[in-house]
Amino acid sequence: MGKLRKAASYNEGYRRQQRRFMAPPDKHPSHGRWTALARAVPPKASVLDLGCGAGHFAEVLRSEGGEGRYLGLDYSIEAVKLARQREVSGATFKRMDLRKLQRKLVSRFDVIVSGQVFEHLEDDLALVDLLAGKLVLFTVPTFDSAGHVRWFPQRQTVVDRYTDRFHGLVIGPVGRSWFCCGVAKGASEVC
Ligand SMILES: C[S@@+](CC[C@H](N)C(=O)[O-])C[C@H]1O[C@@H](n2cnc3c(N)ncnc32)[C@H](O)[C@@H]1O
Repeated sequence: MGKLRKAASYNEGYRRQQRRFMAPPDKHPSHGRWTALARAVPPKASVLDLGCGAGHFAEVLRSEGGEGRYLGLDYSIEAVKLARQREVSGATFKRMDLRKLQRKLVSRFDVIVSGQVFEHLEDDLALVDLLAGKLVLFTVPTFDSAGHVRWFPQRQTVVDRYTDRFHGLVIGPVGRSWFCCGVAKGASEVC
């Protein structure tokens, strides 16, 4: 398994592969994953996207008819710059380390989205605790890669880590990832 990556290492990746990251989302192998997430968002819902990367999901969300307020957060400034260059209408992107996310910000949004990010965080469960009461749509990979502190080769591995943390967690395959959808529980509700 890879080592935890710092923002600087993501910055380098986003800088080096700028052209690849700025290609239209439908040319990217993750298009199906972003589409699955976007289709699960109610049309007018406001969305907080945790670890938004280069903004592909925001673009796909709009093309799938999602018209609510959108804020994407990522601790890589290079990712945020690329995301802003997409000029997605009504979308805002900010640099933030998710380990410093505050409940106050979470409470301003209807839906929380996070694509391929929980596996990069040592304490992903503390982040989930912060999302209590919110509909959370997320994907996690079936494969290992740089920066993953865990990954999910079988469905059961997702069940083991997250089922207790959500009300009615639905888990299904999407490409090389697991698509997950449920309402986050608060820490006090977890058995
Ligand atoms: C594999 S990319 C996923 C990007 C995008 N969500 C997607 O669906 O393609 C993981 C992203 O998480 C971001 N990330 C990792 N750890 C983070 C942290 N502690 N705070 C904020 N962003 C983080 C990285 O900068 C990177 O953009």
